Amino acid sequence: MAETKTLLRALAGETLETPPIWMMRQAGRYLPEYRATRAQAGDFLSLCYNSELAAEVTLQPIRRYGFDAAILFADILLVPQALGADLWFVTGEGPRLSTITTEADFAKIGTRDDIHETLNPIYETVRILRRELPEETTLIGFAGAPWTVATYMIAGRGTPDQGPAHKLMAENEPLFASLIDRLTEATIDYLSAQIEAGAEVVKIFDSWAGSLKGDAFDKYALEPCRVITAALKEKHPGIPVIGFPREAGEKYVGFAKATGVDCVALDSAVDPKWAAEHVQVDGCVQGNLKSSHMVTGGQALIDETRAIVEAFSNGPHIFNLGHGITPDADPENVQLMIDTVRSAKR
Ligand code: CP3
Repeated sequence: MAETKTLLRALAGETLETPPIWMMRQAGRYLPEYRATRAQAGDFLSLCYNSELAAEVTLQPIRRYGFDAAILFADILLVPQALGADLWFVTGEGPRLSTITTEADFAKIGTRDDIHETLNPIYETVRILRRELPEETTLIGFAGAPWTVATYMIAGRGTPDQGPAHKLMAENEPLFASLIDRLTEATIDYLSAQIEAGAEVVKIFDSWAGSLKGDAFDKYALEPCRVITAALKEKHPGIPVIGFPREAGEKYVGFAKATGVDCVALDSAVDPKWAAEHVQVDGCVQGNLKSSHMVTGGQALIDETRAIVEAFSNGPHIFNLGHGITPDADPENVQLMIDTVRSAKR
């Protein structure tokens, strides 16, 4: 039977009259219904591990806006937690974790075989979603890329320049590489279990890929993404993979070919016309409206949205923001973006 889900068609390389659309962090604090459900769960992590409520917040933006895809509600830092790291969130500041800077710290973390005990509720969320999503809506699973997850595990928190992770790489590269390998294995098994539970696409978030330069990018952003993608496709032939080496700049060129991903997600620093010529030539691209338009709205939102749709109109494209929507966004601006994309026929 011919594929009817627009997101899967774009990922298969089809140029559609209207690009499918979804939004990073589409279930989030800008929505009052999300805030209510999070309060019901108690806190963010309890919400992630409550399969019924996590499925509910995943469905909220689908009901409100009719996005073409839903992304599983969870977090990239659940994998470190499943490997035995302590994890907590400080309100207004962000995540905190126990740190890994020595061989002794590393010896304490678990292996790929240990993760499912903690992550089983996430697979249950996926199963609920496959039952409850509208039939035209694609379900996306995800994980953090090893480098990005490692930056949090090494520093114990988010860092502006990923300094502690770069320092460990420079001072004890064998230990750093062991952590990347451990995360690569765990990520393969985590995404594989999401696919078995019903995820139809998976996305690998490498939010801090931009701070890796030259050979370090190839070794620790590109290579883990290639290994994960190859392992998933061997086990689940045909599973589409979206890679997001955020702020990779010139390194976006050739990334899909080198890693085997079906689609490259672009951040907002990338000029869409340049990306159409240099990145979309290799297949589907996703992106890349500035998140700030969801706060400011107006004619600038409409003009930028149209320019992005137009720039990518000669090839496969999934419309999205260049990064997650922020809590101060106006839900009406999201509707304006969707209406603009869907009325801007190619
Ligand atoms: O996109 C989605 O809607 C799916 C769910 C999702 C979340 N986080 C939910 C979340 C996804 C895909 C992520 C990925 C994630 N998490 C990344 C990579 C993507 C990116 O944004 O760069 C990173 C680096 C994290 C780690 C993380 N989680 C941080 C730094 C924070 C705190 C920041 C903040 O806004 O407080 C989180 C928390 C988080 N993850 C929230 C959500 C909806 C906000 C938590 C809340 O409700 O208070």
